[in-house]
Amino acid sequence: METIAGNIEDSLRSVNGYISAELGAIDPEVFDFEKYPFNFMGKAARARFTLLTAAALGAKQGLAEKAAAAAELTHTASLLHDDCLDMARYRRGLPTLYDQLGVNSAILVGDLLMAMAFECAMRAAPDLQESLVQALKRMTQGALIEENSCGKKITAATAEKIVALKTGALFRWCALAACRLADRPELLENCARLGEEAGSAFQLIDDVLDFEGDAGACGKETLKDIKEGKFTLPLILALNDAQAGPAVEKLLAAVKAGPEADLAPALDLAELVRKGGFSGAARKIAAEKLKNLFPLIDKFPHAEEAGALKDFLLTLGERTA
Ligand code: IPE
Ligand code: IPE
Ligand code: MG
Ligand code: MG
Repeated sequence: METIAGNIEDSLRSVNGYISAELGAIDPEVFDFEKYPFNFMGKAARARFTLLTAAALGAKQGLAEKAAAAAELTHTASLLHDDCLDMARYRRGLPTLYDQLGVNSAILVGDLLMAMAFECAMRAAPDLQESLVQALKRMTQGALIEENSCGKKITAATAEKIVALKTGALFRWCALAACRLADRPELLENCARLGEEAGSAFQLIDDVLDFEGDAGACGKETLKDIKEGKFTLPLILALNDAQAGPAVEKLLAAVKAGPEADLAPALDLAELVRKGGFSGAARKIAAEKLKNLFPLIDKFPHAEEAGALKDFLLTLGERTA
Protein backbone atom coordinates (compact mmCIF):
# COMPACT_ATOMS: atom_id res chain seq x y z
CA MET A 1 0.00 0.00 0.00
CA GLU A 2 1.25 3.45 -0.86
CA THR A 3 1.73 5.72 2.14
CA ILE A 4 2.43 9.45 2.16
CA ALA A 5 5.77 8.86 3.89
CA GLY A 6 6.66 6.17 1.31
CA ASN A 7 5.75 8.49 -1.54
CA ILE A 8 7.87 11.28 -0.13
CA GLU A 9 10.86 8.93 0.28
CA ASP A 10 10.43 7.80 -3.36
CA SER A 11 10.27 11.42 -4.45
CA LEU A 12 13.38 12.28 -2.45
CA ARG A 13 15.24 9.50 -4.22
CA SER A 14 14.10 10.99 -7.53
CA VAL A 15 15.28 14.45 -6.45
CA ASN A 16 18.64 13.00 -5.45
CA GLY A 17 18.90 11.11 -8.75
CA TYR A 18 17.92 14.21 -10.68
CA ILE A 19 20.58 16.35 -8.96
CA SER A 20 23.23 13.63 -9.44
CA ALA A 21 22.37 13.38 -13.14
CA GLU A 22 22.61 17.17 -13.56
CA LEU A 23 25.99 17.27 -11.79
CA GLY A 24 27.19 14.21 -13.71
CA ALA A 25 26.40 15.98 -17.00
CA ILE A 26 28.92 18.74 -16.26
CA ASP A 27 32.13 18.45 -18.29
CA PRO A 28 34.74 17.01 -15.85
CA GLU A 29 37.17 19.56 -17.20
CA VAL A 30 34.87 22.20 -15.73
CA PHE A 31 34.40 20.36 -12.46
CA ASP A 32 34.57 16.67 -11.72
CA PHE A 33 31.72 16.12 -9.27
CA GLU A 34 32.70 12.44 -8.90
CA LYS A 35 36.19 13.23 -7.75
CA TYR A 36 35.72 15.13 -4.52
CA PRO A 37 34.36 13.52 -1.36
CA PHE A 38 31.56 16.01 -0.73
CA ASN A 39 27.81 15.50 -0.28
CA PHE A 40 25.87 17.65 -2.70
CA MET A 41 22.68 16.95 -0.76
CA GLY A 42 22.43 17.01 3.04
CA LYS A 43 19.37 16.32 5.20
CA ALA A 44 17.18 17.55 2.35
CA ALA A 45 14.91 19.59 4.66
CA ARG A 46 13.98 22.02 1.88
CA ALA A 47 13.20 19.19 -0.55
CA ARG A 48 10.98 17.45 2.04
CA PHE A 49 9.25 20.69 2.85
CA THR A 50 8.59 21.40 -0.85
CA LEU A 51 7.31 17.88 -1.53
CA LEU A 52 5.07 17.74 1.55
CA THR A 53 3.62 21.21 0.92
CA ALA A 54 3.05 20.33 -2.73
CA ALA A 55 1.30 17.10 -1.72
CA ALA A 56 -0.91 18.92 0.80
CA LEU A 57 -1.87 21.44 -1.91
CA GLY A 58 -2.37 18.83 -4.64
CA ALA A 59 0.52 19.67 -7.00
CA LYS A 60 1.86 17.08 -9.45
CA GLN A 61 4.66 15.09 -7.82
CA GLY A 62 6.97 15.21 -10.86
CA LEU A 63 6.88 18.99 -10.99
CA ALA A 64 7.29 19.29 -7.24
CA GLU A 65 10.43 17.14 -7.49
CA LYS A 66 11.99 19.65 -9.91
CA ALA A 67 11.18 22.52 -7.55
CA ALA A 68 12.62 20.48 -4.66
CA ALA A 69 15.83 19.93 -6.65
CA ALA A 70 16.02 23.68 -7.36
CA ALA A 71 15.67 24.40 -3.63
CA GLU A 72 18.40 21.93 -2.64
CA LEU A 73 20.79 23.21 -5.34
CA THR A 74 20.19 26.80 -4.20
CA HIS A 75 20.77 25.78 -0.59
CA THR A 76 24.00 23.88 -1.34
CA ALA A 77 25.25 26.82 -3.42
CA SER A 78 24.62 29.11 -0.45
CA LEU A 79 26.51 26.71 1.84
CA LEU A 80 29.53 26.58 -0.48
CA HIS A 81 29.69 30.37 -0.28
CA ASP A 82 28.91 30.41 3.46
CA ASP A 83 31.83 28.04 4.11
CA CYS A 84 34.15 30.53 2.39
CA LEU A 85 32.81 33.38 4.55
CA ASP A 86 33.16 31.26 7.70
CA MET A 87 36.43 29.60 6.59
CA ALA A 88 34.69 26.38 7.66
CA ARG A 89 36.51 23.06 7.40
CA TYR A 90 33.67 20.53 7.77
CA ARG A 91 30.31 20.23 6.15
CA ARG A 92 27.97 17.23 5.99
CA GLY A 93 30.61 15.15 7.77
CA LEU A 94 33.28 15.80 5.14
CA PRO A 95 35.89 18.48 4.44
CA THR A 96 34.29 21.55 2.82
CA LEU A 97 35.07 22.33 -0.81
CA TYR A 98 36.67 25.49 0.57
CA ASP A 99 39.01 23.23 2.55
CA GLN A 100 39.67 20.84 -0.33
CA LEU A 101 40.03 23.32 -3.17
CA GLY A 102 40.25 26.82 -1.78
CA VAL A 103 38.03 29.84 -1.94
CA ASN A 104 38.07 30.42 -5.72
CA SER A 105 36.80 26.99 -6.73
CA ALA A 106 34.28 26.86 -3.88
CA ILE A 107 32.78 30.19 -4.98
CA LEU A 108 32.67 29.18 -8.63
CA VAL A 109 31.11 25.78 -7.96
CA GLY A 110 28.53 27.59 -5.82
CA ASP A 111 27.76 29.89 -8.75
CA LEU A 112 27.44 26.91 -11.05
CA LEU A 113 25.00 25.16 -8.70
CA MET A 114 22.97 28.36 -8.45
CA ALA A 115 22.69 28.58 -12.23
CA MET A 116 21.61 24.92 -12.31
CA ALA A 117 19.00 25.70 -9.67
CA PHE A 118 17.47 28.37 -11.92
CA GLU A 119 17.36 25.85 -14.73
CA CYS A 120 15.52 23.31 -12.53
CA ALA A 121 13.07 25.96 -11.35
CA MET A 122 12.34 26.89 -14.95
CA ARG A 123 11.70 23.25 -15.83
CA ALA A 124 9.14 23.05 -13.02
CA ALA A 125 7.43 26.26 -14.27
CA PRO A 126 9.06 29.17 -16.16
CA ASP A 127 7.78 31.85 -13.75
CA LEU A 128 9.38 30.05 -10.78
CA GLN A 129 12.67 31.40 -12.01
CA GLU A 130 11.48 34.94 -11.28
CA SER A 131 10.39 34.09 -7.74
CA LEU A 132 13.70 32.27 -7.15
CA VAL A 133 15.55 35.47 -8.12
CA GLN A 134 13.52 37.29 -5.43
CA ALA A 135 14.35 34.56 -2.89
CA LEU A 136 18.04 34.73 -3.69
CA LYS A 137 17.96 38.49 -3.30
CA ARG A 138 16.44 38.10 0.16
CA MET A 139 18.92 35.38 1.18
CA THR A 140 21.86 37.55 0.15
CA GLN A 141 20.46 40.55 1.98
CA GLY A 142 20.12 38.43 5.12
CA ALA A 143 23.73 37.24 4.78
CA LEU A 144 24.86 40.84 4.35
CA ILE A 145 23.01 42.11 7.42
CA GLU A 146 24.59 39.24 9.36
CA GLU A 147 28.01 40.10 7.98
CA ASN A 148 27.57 43.79 8.89
CA SER A 149 26.45 42.81 12.40
CA CYS A 150 29.46 40.59 13.16
CA GLY A 151 30.93 41.40 16.56
CA LYS A 152 28.00 43.70 17.37
CA LYS A 153 25.25 43.20 19.91
CA ILE A 154 22.08 43.16 17.85
CA THR A 155 18.49 43.36 19.01
CA ALA A 156 16.15 40.37 18.94
CA ALA A 157 14.29 42.19 16.14
CA THR A 158 17.43 42.34 13.95
CA ALA A 159 18.18 38.69 14.72
CA GLU A 160 14.64 37.84 13.60
CA LYS A 161 15.12 39.76 10.37
CA ILE A 162 18.39 37.92 9.68
CA VAL A 163 16.87 34.43 10.07
CA ALA A 164 13.78 35.37 8.05
CA LEU A 165 15.92 36.59 5.17
CA LYS A 166 18.91 34.29 5.10
CA THR A 167 16.99 31.04 5.62
CA GLY A 168 13.28 31.91 5.74
CA ALA A 169 13.46 33.22 2.17
CA LEU A 170 14.32 29.88 0.58
CA PHE A 171 11.70 27.92 2.56
CA ARG A 172 9.27 30.68 1.56
CA TRP A 173 10.13 30.02 -2.07
CA CYS A 174 9.61 26.26 -1.55
CA ALA A 175 6.06 26.87 -0.31
CA LEU A 176 5.35 29.48 -3.00
CA ALA A 177 6.59 27.05 -5.66
CA ALA A 178 4.35 24.28 -4.28
CA CYS A 179 1.41 26.69 -4.32
CA ARG A 180 2.13 27.78 -7.88
CA LEU A 181 2.48 24.20 -9.08
CA ALA A 182 -0.81 23.27 -7.41
CA ASP A 183 -2.44 26.34 -9.00
CA ARG A 184 -3.92 27.59 -5.73
CA PRO A 185 -3.36 31.39 -5.98
CA GLU A 186 -5.81 32.02 -3.14
CA LEU A 187 -3.36 30.28 -0.77
CA LEU A 188 -0.26 32.22 -1.86
CA GLU A 189 -0.17 34.53 1.17
CA ASN A 190 -0.62 31.58 3.53
CA CYS A 191 2.21 29.75 1.80
CA ALA A 192 4.52 32.75 1.95
CA ARG A 193 4.03 32.96 5.70
CA LEU A 194 4.25 29.21 6.21
CA GLY A 195 7.57 29.04 4.36
CA GLU A 196 9.17 32.08 5.93
CA GLU A 197 8.23 31.08 9.47
CA ALA A 198 9.22 27.43 8.98
CA GLY A 199 12.60 28.53 7.56
CA SER A 200 13.15 31.02 10.39
CA ALA A 201 12.41 28.29 12.94
CA PHE A 202 14.76 25.93 11.10
CA GLN A 203 17.55 28.52 11.36
CA LEU A 204 16.78 29.17 15.05
CA ILE A 205 17.27 25.46 15.75
CA ASP A 206 20.52 25.55 13.76
CA ASP A 207 21.61 28.41 16.02
CA VAL A 208 20.61 26.39 19.10
CA LEU A 209 22.62 23.41 17.81
CA ASP A 210 25.70 25.59 17.49
CA PHE A 211 25.59 25.63 21.33
CA GLU A 212 24.01 22.26 22.10
CA GLY A 213 24.75 20.03 19.15
CA ASP A 214 27.24 17.24 18.70
CA ALA A 215 29.68 18.13 15.91
CA GLY A 216 29.82 14.50 14.73
CA ALA A 217 26.05 14.19 14.50
CA CYS A 218 25.66 17.65 12.91
CA GLY A 219 28.49 16.96 10.44
CA LYS A 220 29.96 20.42 11.04
CA GLU A 221 31.86 22.29 13.70
CA THR A 222 29.94 23.70 16.66
CA LEU A 223 30.50 26.93 18.64
CA LYS A 224 31.27 28.66 15.33
CA ASP A 225 28.81 31.49 15.92
CA ILE A 226 30.38 32.61 19.21
CA LYS A 227 33.87 32.50 17.72
CA GLU A 228 32.74 34.55 14.71
CA GLY A 229 31.00 37.16 16.85
CA LYS A 230 27.51 36.22 15.67
CA PHE A 231 24.81 37.16 18.15
CA THR A 232 22.16 34.50 17.62
CA LEU A 233 19.00 34.20 19.70
CA PRO A 234 20.39 31.94 22.51
CA LEU A 235 23.19 34.44 23.14
CA ILE A 236 20.86 37.47 22.92
CA LEU A 237 18.52 35.85 25.48
CA ALA A 238 21.48 35.23 27.80
CA LEU A 239 22.78 38.78 27.37
CA ASN A 240 19.37 40.28 28.09
CA ASP A 241 18.95 38.21 31.26
CA ALA A 242 19.38 40.37 34.36
CA GLN A 243 21.20 37.63 36.26
CA ALA A 244 23.38 36.04 33.57
CA GLY A 245 23.97 39.18 31.45
CA PRO A 246 27.11 40.54 33.21
CA ALA A 247 28.88 37.15 33.19
CA VAL A 248 28.00 36.74 29.50
CA GLU A 249 29.46 40.19 28.73
CA LYS A 250 32.68 39.27 30.53
CA LEU A 251 33.09 35.99 28.68
CA LEU A 252 32.32 37.65 25.35
CA ALA A 253 35.09 40.18 26.00
CA ALA A 254 37.47 37.30 26.84
CA VAL A 255 36.56 35.45 23.60
CA LYS A 256 37.25 38.64 21.64
CA ALA A 257 40.51 39.55 23.38
CA GLY A 258 42.06 36.10 23.65
CA PRO A 259 44.04 34.23 20.97
CA GLU A 260 41.90 32.18 18.56
CA ALA A 261 43.49 28.96 19.79
CA ASP A 262 42.28 29.57 23.35
CA LEU A 263 38.93 27.81 23.36
CA ALA A 264 38.32 28.12 27.10
CA PRO A 265 36.22 31.34 27.14
CA ALA A 266 34.07 30.16 24.19
CA LEU A 267 33.50 26.81 25.94
CA ASP A 268 32.59 28.59 29.20
CA LEU A 269 30.24 30.92 27.38
CA ALA A 270 28.54 28.01 25.61
CA GLU A 271 28.11 26.23 28.94
CA LEU A 272 26.55 29.30 30.48
CA VAL A 273 24.12 29.63 27.57
CA ARG A 274 23.18 25.94 27.82
CA LYS A 275 23.01 25.59 31.59
CA GLY A 276 21.23 28.90 32.03
CA GLY A 277 18.46 27.46 29.84
CA PHE A 278 18.90 30.07 27.09
CA SER A 279 19.45 27.67 24.20
CA GLY A 280 16.47 25.70 25.54
CA ALA A 281 14.40 28.88 25.58
CA ALA A 282 15.37 29.63 21.96
CA ARG A 283 14.35 26.08 20.99
CA LYS A 284 10.99 26.62 22.65
CA ILE A 285 10.46 29.83 20.68
CA ALA A 286 11.24 27.97 17.45
CA ALA A 287 8.92 25.06 18.33
CA GLU A 288 6.14 27.52 19.17
CA LYS A 289 6.65 29.30 15.84
CA LEU A 290 6.20 25.98 14.05
CA LYS A 291 3.06 25.01 16.00
CA ASN A 292 1.52 28.41 15.22
CA LEU A 293 1.61 27.47 11.55
CA PHE A 294 -0.86 24.62 11.96
CA PRO A 295 -4.01 26.73 11.39
CA LEU A 296 -2.56 27.83 8.02
CA ILE A 297 -1.95 24.22 7.03
CA ASP A 298 -5.49 23.28 8.08
CA LYS A 299 -6.68 25.37 5.11
CA PHE A 300 -4.85 23.10 2.65
CA PRO A 301 -7.13 20.86 0.55
CA HIS A 302 -5.53 17.44 1.18
CA ALA A 303 -6.02 16.66 4.86
CA GLU A 304 -3.89 13.53 5.19
CA GLU A 305 -0.92 15.11 3.41
CA ALA A 306 -1.41 18.27 5.48
CA GLY A 307 -1.10 16.05 8.58
CA ALA A 308 2.21 14.69 7.28
CA LEU A 309 3.42 18.26 6.73
CA LYS A 310 2.55 19.15 10.33
CA ASP A 311 4.39 16.06 11.61
CA PHE A 312 7.43 17.13 9.61
CA LEU A 313 7.34 20.62 11.10
CA LEU A 314 7.21 19.09 14.58
CA THR A 315 10.36 17.07 13.83
CA LEU A 316 12.12 20.30 12.74
CA GLY A 317 11.47 21.79 16.18
CA GLU A 318 12.84 18.70 17.93
CA ARG A 319 15.85 17.98 15.78
CA THR A 320 19.23 17.43 17.40
CA ALA A 321 21.28 17.35 14.17
C1 IPE B 1 22.43 24.51 7.36
O1 IPE B 1 21.35 23.94 6.69
C2 IPE B 1 22.42 25.98 7.18
C3 IPE B 1 21.16 26.63 7.49
C4 IPE B 1 20.61 27.47 6.67
C5 IPE B 1 20.50 26.41 8.76
P1 IPE B 1 20.96 22.42 6.84
O2 IPE B 1 20.96 22.03 8.28
O3 IPE B 1 19.71 22.17 6.07
O4 IPE B 1 22.19 21.71 6.12
P2 IPE B 1 22.24 20.33 5.28
O5 IPE B 1 21.71 20.65 3.92
O6 IPE B 1 21.42 19.31 5.98
O7 IPE B 1 23.70 20.02 5.25
C1 IPE C 1 23.87 29.73 6.76
O1 IPE C 1 23.65 29.86 8.09
C2 IPE C 1 22.74 30.41 6.11
C3 IPE C 1 22.69 30.29 4.68
C4 IPE C 1 21.59 30.61 4.10
C5 IPE C 1 23.82 29.88 3.87
P1 IPE C 1 24.74 29.30 9.08
O2 IPE C 1 26.02 30.03 8.91
O3 IPE C 1 24.15 29.25 10.44
O4 IPE C 1 24.93 27.82 8.54
P2 IPE C 1 25.98 26.78 9.14
O5 IPE C 1 25.75 26.75 10.63
O6 IPE C 1 27.33 27.27 8.74
O7 IPE C 1 25.59 25.49 8.49
MG1 MG D 1 27.91 29.23 8.44
MG1 MG E 1 24.70 27.84 11.86
